[in-house]
Amino acid sequence: DRQNSTLSRKTIFKIVVLGESGVGKTSLLERYVTDRFSMLYKATIGADVMTKNIELENHRVVTLQLWDTAGQERFQSLGTCFYRGADCCILVYDVGIPQTFENLDVWRREFLLQAGIEPTQIEHFPFIVLGNKVDKEDRAVTRKMGETWCQQHGNLPYLECSAKDDKNVKTAFLMAAELIDSRR
Ligand code: GTP
Ligand code: MG
Repeated sequence: DRQNSTLSRKTIFKIVVLGESGVGKTSLLERYVTDRFSMLYKATIGADVMTKNIELENHRVVTLQLWDTAGQERFQSLGTCFYRGADCCILVYDVGIPQTFENLDVWRREFLLQAGIEPTQIEHFPFIVLGNKVDKEDRAVTRKMGETWCQQHGNLPYLECSAKDDKNVKTAFLMAAELIDSRR
């Protein structure tokens, strides 16, 4: 029995990273997967996929399939094929740019729609919200604002992070993996 349940468990966790262009989605993934960071901006075209194996708290090893999507408007029609089958969605905004925060709900709703999440499952779907670039001196969106938004949208987990300073990056992806695993 125990072996059966182990075998039937999913070992590939699909995680989709969404948010406005320039908030740092690619930078967070690059920091996480290759531990590098660059100040140069190169827009993502369509989407890129990276994988990384991690060990969960229960010592099971799983593969994270990380989907780095494009924030630019002209790529949005591609959403359907990228979002389908996602096990978790990470919503990212830039704490220095209010408009990226104000648009979070658009990204969230578009994801639910295009990923084909059943209405009854919406409140159970694992989202994580990241306020990125907290290393910036000119901050416009406070931690309180981020936390309040998350409370109002179903008590979603919220983390403040920085791809530049490597703050809360590992924690965010580990949290995503544990959230996915806890629902199986
Ligand atoms: P699209 O691919 O167009 O959707 O953008 P993106 O969300 O992937 O943004 P990207 O990771 O390319 O980062 C955009 C710019 O922000 C780059 O110049 C990065 O160097 C910078 N950046 C990313 N993360 C941070 C951070 O934590 N702190 C600071 N200060 N800059 C960052
Ligand atoms: Mg990108």
